Amino acid sequence: MNIAVVGVCTSGKTTLVNSLKAMGYRAYHVAQEHSSVPRMWALRRPDFLDCSYETATARRAVPWGPKHMEEQRRRLEDARAHCDLYLRTDGMTPEAVLAAVVTAIEKAKGGDGNMPPVTLEAVKKVPEVETYINRGNDYTEHGPRHASLVANIAHNVLARLGFPQREAELAAIAGYLHDIGNIVSRWSHGQTGAVMAFTVLRELGMPPDEIATVVGAIGSHDPEESGYPVNNVSAALILGDKSDVHRTRVRNPDQAAFDIHDRVNYAVEHSFLRVDDGRKAITLELKIDTKISPVMDYFEIFLTRMVMCRRAASYLGCDFELSINEVRLL
Ligand SMILES: [Fe+2]
Ligand SMILES: [Fe+2]
Repeated sequence: MNIAVVGVCTSGKTTLVNSLKAMGYRAYHVAQEHSSVPRMWALRRPDFLDCSYETATARRAVPWGPKHMEEQRRRLEDARAHCDLYLRTDGMTPEAVLAAVVTAIEKAKGGDGNMPPVTLEAVKKVPEVETYINRGNDYTEHGPRHASLVANIAHNVLARLGFPQREAELAAIAGYLHDIGNIVSRWSHGQTGAVMAFTVLRELGMPPDEIATVVGAIGSHDPEESGYPVNNVSAALILGDKSDVHRTRVRNPDQAAFDIHDRVNYAVEHSFLRVDDGRKAITLELKIDTKISPVMDYFEIFLTRMVMCRRAASYLGCDFELSINEVRLL
């Protein structure tokens, strides 16, 4: 289904079209308000957004007066007469406009009119998310590989333990977005990332209750000394994030200049988080090259992480175990 949006300037067309596209709808803006072709809109059946001149001037400084707006309405008369949905957006937030339009679309498709749930795939398609994740790397890798891996692990932790599928999807979304705050600063990136994720998810039309779960999880994954699981999604995110230790994360190309973090990460040849629902045990299995880094180095660096993992596993009703080179250490 193609969705064409027409309306007067400042009525919210661009914001609506961007949000609809991010949600996977084929949405287009038809600039009928500027066209002398009266039926340009007819290329696609339109939704019509309207607002008053007072609202227009409140939304942004417009370089034209009310007469210009009346002229736009005149050009739009035909489109309005034939539109599937007419909305006065005065007093409406962008989220309320989006919700009203999506409800109408879903009803037209024969559904119940409910907003379809926001998925990880929809989040991945938001261009700004891709940019933030690509820009968020520092001395260890926090880019797309880490984001996707944490999303997968967080999802699998909840799915394998029998939590609801929707909760597992929220864990995947939290896992994918959890480090976007790194573009602001490594310091407090959990909290800044939570606020950034809030904006992204709200624009995608995610319900407030789900947003609260996801941003709470992102804001609680860091710092390691005080991060604490606040919900199931948060616990799954912590387990996914803190178990990602691997030589591919080392950014320093000069082995002679490795610090202890580089050395430990580089020594890890294989890592796997095993979830055993029957035993209620979550085990981090590592294969470490002890010629590069002794096991003690691992503990020196990752003790706080292991404590966080234990708290997270416990939150999900499980024990946390650590196995290095097939020797159970915790
Ligand atoms: Fe982080
Ligand atoms: Fe991370």
